Amino acid sequence: MDRIVLITGGGTGIGYAVAARFATEGATVYITGRRKEILDKRAADLGDGVRTLPCDNTDPDQLIAAAAELPDHIDVLVNNAGGNTDFDAPSENGLHAVASRWSTNLNANLLSAVLTTHAVGDRLTSGGSVIHIGSIAADQGAGSYGAAKAGLASWNIDLAQEFGPREITCNVVAPGYIRDTEFFRDKLTAERVDFLIDRTFTGRAGVPTDIAETVYFLASSGARHITGQVINVNGGAHTVR
Ligand SMILES: NC(=O)c1ccc[n+]([C@@H]2O[C@H](COP(=O)([O-])OP(=O)(O)OC[C@H]3O[C@@H](n4cnc5c(N)ncnc54)[C@H](OP(=O)(O)O)[C@@H]3O)[C@@H](O)[C@H]2O)c1
Repeated sequence: MDRIVLITGGGTGIGYAVAARFATEGATVYITGRRKEILDKRAADLGDGVRTLPCDNTDPDQLIAAAAELPDHIDVLVNNAGGNTDFDAPSENGLHAVASRWSTNLNANLLSAVLTTHAVGDRLTSGGSVIHIGSIAADQGAGSYGAAKAGLASWNIDLAQEFGPREITCNVVAPGYIRDTEFFRDKLTAERVDFLIDRTFTGRAGVPTDIAETVYFLASSGARHITGQVINVNGGAHTVR
């Protein structure tokens, strides 16, 4: 039977590459995002198997409405929506500004995954998978963004334990620098790009398909005993034992 796949933030960058990967196998893929026009365009690019679900994954009411549009079973959930919201925030130092910046990043990267998983968790099928997109920043410090991604990895352990008896695996894929996405807005200098590439052993930037292939593997029959883990995809820029 064709798989049902839900990908948050599936209209651009890594989420779009993940959607394309699952669409290739013939899965029915639902992509979320706040910009309906982007979703419509990208879904049209990928063909009939891809459906759009415009919503803000940090908003419980919007998630309840979106969940009502989904089938009664889901095989794969990819919590990809997020990004470093500090890029779009004023860098004021007052306590209210700090509170706002932190809660925005925690909401975008941690709460979005928690709420989405709660919204559809009962529908996940035995043999299914939950995959969150974390970040190298979780281990390297990056203010509220790194803290949010570290929190995601911690919460994933609970989730893996909870879903394990249902034969559902839960993992984090943690990318290093990935080019060709909207993540950095236009704020990455050529010098910074060179620095990020220099840190890799592979001597190149990551691309969205590097992450999509790893997500696809974790959702495959060959990965049924991998759960509760963080899989780093960063060209060696950060190594773990
Ligand atoms: N690119 C990198 O170097 C890198 C490295 C490490 C980790 N990551 C992580 O990879 C994931 C994907 O990022 P990307 O690089 O592909 O950047 P991107 O192109 O900016 O993708 C982020 C996607 O998430 C959606 N999104 C953001 N907030 C949302 C919300 N509240 N509700 C629904 N959708 C939301 C955005 O669409 P809308 O704006 O239309 O909602 C967008 O499609 C993120 O979690 C990011 O933190 C990226």
